[in-house]
Amino acid sequence: MAAGKGTRMKSRMPKVLQKLAGRALVQHVLHTAAQLQARSAVVITGHGAEQVEAALAAGATDSAMALKFVRQEPQLGTGHAVQQAVPALADDGLVIVLSGDVPLTQAQTLQALVDAAGADRMALLTVALDNPTGYGRIVRNAQGTVQRIVEQKDASEDERAIQEIYSGIMAVPAKRLAQWLAQLNNHNAQGEYYLTDIVAMAVAEGVEVVAHRITDAVQVAGVNSPLQLAELERAHQQRQAIALMEQGVRLADPARLDVRDDVRGLPAHLVCEQDVDIDVGCIFTGRVEIGEGARIGAYCHISNATIAAGAVIHPFTHIDGEKLGASVGEGALIGPFARLRPGAQLGKQVHIGNFVEVKNSTMAEGSKANHLAYLGDATVGERVNYGAGSITANYDGVNKHRTVIENDVQIGSNCVLVAPVTLGAGSTVGGGSTVTKNTEPGVLTVARGKQVTISNWKRPVKQPKV
Ligand code: UD1
Ligand code: CA
Repeated sequence: MAAGKGTRMKSRMPKVLQKLAGRALVQHVLHTAAQLQARSAVVITGHGAEQVEAALAAGATDSAMALKFVRQEPQLGTGHAVQQAVPALADDGLVIVLSGDVPLTQAQTLQALVDAAGADRMALLTVALDNPTGYGRIVRNAQGTVQRIVEQKDASEDERAIQEIYSGIMAVPAKRLAQWLAQLNNHNAQGEYYLTDIVAMAVAEGVEVVAHRITDAVQVAGVNSPLQLAELERAHQQRQAIALMEQGVRLADPARLDVRDDVRGLPAHLVCEQDVDIDVGCIFTGRVEIGEGARIGAYCHISNATIAAGAVIHPFTHIDGEKLGASVGEGALIGPFARLRPGAQLGKQVHIGNFVEVKNSTMAEGSKANHLAYLGDATVGERVNYGAGSITANYDGVNKHRTVIENDVQIGSNCVLVAPVTLGAGSTVGGGSTVTKNTEPGVLTVARGKQVTISNWKRPVKQPKV
């Protein structure tokens, strides 16, 4: 169900497209459903239907689960919502009803719900809350058997005292569901067609209804406001942090870590080998792999990148490999304040210092660019020293060109290497040079104005005021 408006979000964006850990709420729900090997998912849209459908159709599909859309207009209640989906459901199946705004249900919880249901049994996911206000209550008889669900607004005082609530998630045989939905009416306090009314219908027909009660309320918590969204974001991040620490990753503070999908929708996937150390405030998006003993300093943002064993990423470094990826070699030292962009491939023991930007360039073992420099579309050999303030002029305004810097080259400070250009092995470029032609191996190239000395020159002196 993803038709609701989400008024309390106070946003132009449909609620189910709000993001948690970089992924739309409804995508979390579909991702979990896919883990159950569901044949298909039917998304019921209404408010912002076109936007929701477009976002989901464009999103990364990580399963064989077929995605179908049905529209619910106007929105006459949860029972009415599911009615719209009936024609899209295979009648031999088991249907799990989920809400697009409840993102953190775990697949194993849903699997347990599926196992509790059956060919002719329905199962409700429930939880006991200290404050059950607003939710549908699970009404049981003296023997403890589930009888029906009563909504807050229709409940008697006694019923409102019941703490066990319906999570909004149920598993029900498709054939039965279709029959019961056809019998719904809206004779209740809200004038809505309640999906929850099918529970009493099942009981009346002698169909068993089981409540699968969990204790973890976060798994059934919905998002209705920015505050709730932020609270669930934290809960989710904390779970990820705990999972990482259980694998041995050392986090300076599990409350100050964020692992998210990247902006293009690549799923979050952070894999760390042994003895990885991550300081506070780091954000990892997309696919990031970190090798043994590597250290990530405070406030780094790392996306779609591979960091090899023993590398040290100093604070405030930004690495985004986007589609091409970025890689940092064994024992390399990066940052602080470094920026690695797509296609940056750094070898072992490479050093990249503050305010150095590297894009679509390879640097072989032991090369260094320690201060204020740009390397774009460059192939850099081993043991190259790239001076402070030097840049590759890789763009002529129309096309990009490559710069090749062979092994053991020394580039002085403030050089401009105008691509395409090749600097021969072991050659040296004097500081302040603008290099437009290839250089031979071993030579010194200086391409700047010659120093001129004017020995009898006098500084101007201030004229007295008249
Ligand atoms: C519903 C349940 C209640 C349960 C609660 C859990 C019913 C009648 N009540 O409450 O027992 O405790 O969920 O959160 O089912 N939606 C539609 N179309 C509609 C109405 C709702 O798609 O016409 C969607 C909403 O966008 C949302 C979900 O269904 O994703 C639940 O709707 P919401 O209004 O939040 O639930 P309640 O009716 O308050
Ligand atoms: Ca409602």
